[in-house]
Amino acid sequence: MPIVSVEKLTRTYGTGETAVRALDGVSLSVNAGEFVAIMGPSGCGKSTLLHLVGGLDKPDSGVVKIVDTDLSTLSDGDLTRLRRREIGFVFQFFNLIPVLSAIENAALPLVLDGKGRKETDAKAAEWLEKVGLGGRMNNRPDELSGGQQQRVAIARALAADPKLVLADEPTGNLDSKSADEVSELLRQVASEWGRSVVMVTHDPRIAAFAHRLVVMSDGRIVSDKETPGDGQAATETARLLIETATATAAEATPPPALAPE
Ligand SMILES: Nc1ncnc2c1ncn2[C@@H]1O[C@H](COP(=O)(O)OP(=O)(O)OP(=O)(O)O)[C@@H](O)[C@H]1O
Ligand SMILES: [Mg+2]
Repeated sequence: MPIVSVEKLTRTYGTGETAVRALDGVSLSVNAGEFVAIMGPSGCGKSTLLHLVGGLDKPDSGVVKIVDTDLSTLSDGDLTRLRRREIGFVFQFFNLIPVLSAIENAALPLVLDGKGRKETDAKAAEWLEKVGLGGRMNNRPDELSGGQQQRVAIARALAADPKLVLADEPTGNLDSKSADEVSELLRQVASEWGRSVVMVTHDPRIAAFAHRLVVMSDGRIVSDKETPGDGQAATETARLLIETATATAAEATPPPALAPE
């Protein structure tokens, strides 16, 4: 059974003349252990899709299911609980709490879920070890590098043992070495620890770490293909896929002709 299944999602922002159709009939499903990269031009709806899948926003029409729960059937309280337990979020700017140590940051979702101190500390420590930060548990974010802060954020995303991890430009604020380490870690989250990972990125090199590349354009999915193996070949394939997919989409919907001067 897929962890995420999305059917014909639409989401429009605003009304009348200024309305923007951010998603225009998106369907997608992601299995356990799968690492999916989403690419596409700025404004094509990538973050909107992630927000809807994560239950942070509601679609105008269409269905989002996490495992077998249709999010639209949940009360606000049940949706919050499902988000805390089943979905981990990773953001471009880490979103760590500056006055808390790495272990306190990583434990946060469990603390919010009302778990006792012993359990939250043990879980947070376990994940910090797994992401390679066993030696930095008591440091605050300003004492850690960008790559280390993002690894704390990944430990936080995994602390509650969610089935799904959603990452919006997780490497957008990192140098290329840290970006590679974080991407490798996200691949491990999927292939070794069996979670579904959906990552938005602008960088074909980073997308090549994923098992599957989804390309969006103008609120639609225009390509959805497996990426081969790893390394240079995958980067080249990712670049080609996104170029062809966006070119095809541009042909399908040509921009309106400019009025003569
Ligand atoms: N809260 C909002 N109110 C109004 N319009 C919005 C809102 N959020 C997004 N949009 C519009 O919806 C469209 C899709 O936005 P979205 O943030 O999903 O794009 P994106 O693909 O994530 O872009 P980027 O790569 O720049 O992050 C854009 O035209 C954007 O301006
Ligand atoms: Mg975005």
